Amino acid sequence: MTSIGELRLHMEPKTLVDENRHQNQPRRVRRIVLSINGDSHSIEVDARSTLAEVLRENLRMTGTKLGCNRSECGTCTLIMDGRTVFSCTILAVEAEGKCIETIEGLASGSDLNPLQKAFIKNDALQCGYCIPAMLMAATALLRVKMEPTEDDVRQGIAGVYCRCGAYPNIVRAVLDVSRGQVDC
Ligand code: FES
Ligand code: FES
Repeated sequence: MTSIGELRLHMEPKTLVDENRHQNQPRRVRRIVLSINGDSHSIEVDARSTLAEVLRENLRMTGTKLGCNRSECGTCTLIMDGRTVFSCTILAVEAEGKCIETIEGLASGSDLNPLQKAFIKNDALQCGYCIPAMLMAATALLRVKMEPTEDDVRQGIAGVYCRCGAYPNIVRAVLDVSRGQVDC
């Protein structure tokens, strides 16, 4: 079973994408197939584009947010092959063949999932910008640790920076779900 520490390892800047890559390299278009929330998307991408860019700009899946764009804030966190990753520093071409999960896959239509409901119930957001990433980090955590302690939750979401400091209510929301204290 994956430990919380292992989960977070993947939030380190494994592949640092050169911020100036668009200036330094010629444009090279590639057709790739991305598996996102169970659906296959065949798209042409600039080989220099990050996964976050392709999600947001090519596929118009704007639930995944961008902040620092350099593996520091965690705002772009999503789940790839079961583990949280920073999508701003993974090239889209590297994500081909992987199982990608984004915030758009959590709810069933207008039916929010228990974590989303718990965030609302606990008023676990202020501006909301970090929340898609928080939800994805919490989702990955609860899959490997169904009954986390408060410390486990804090560690599980530690890679995501909340500019508003909404951490206490976010932690409470995740614990509520793990204790079954949310009406599903
Ligand atoms: S936008 Fe990816 S880590 Fe900040
Ligand atoms: S709620 Fe504003 S950044 Fe987290």
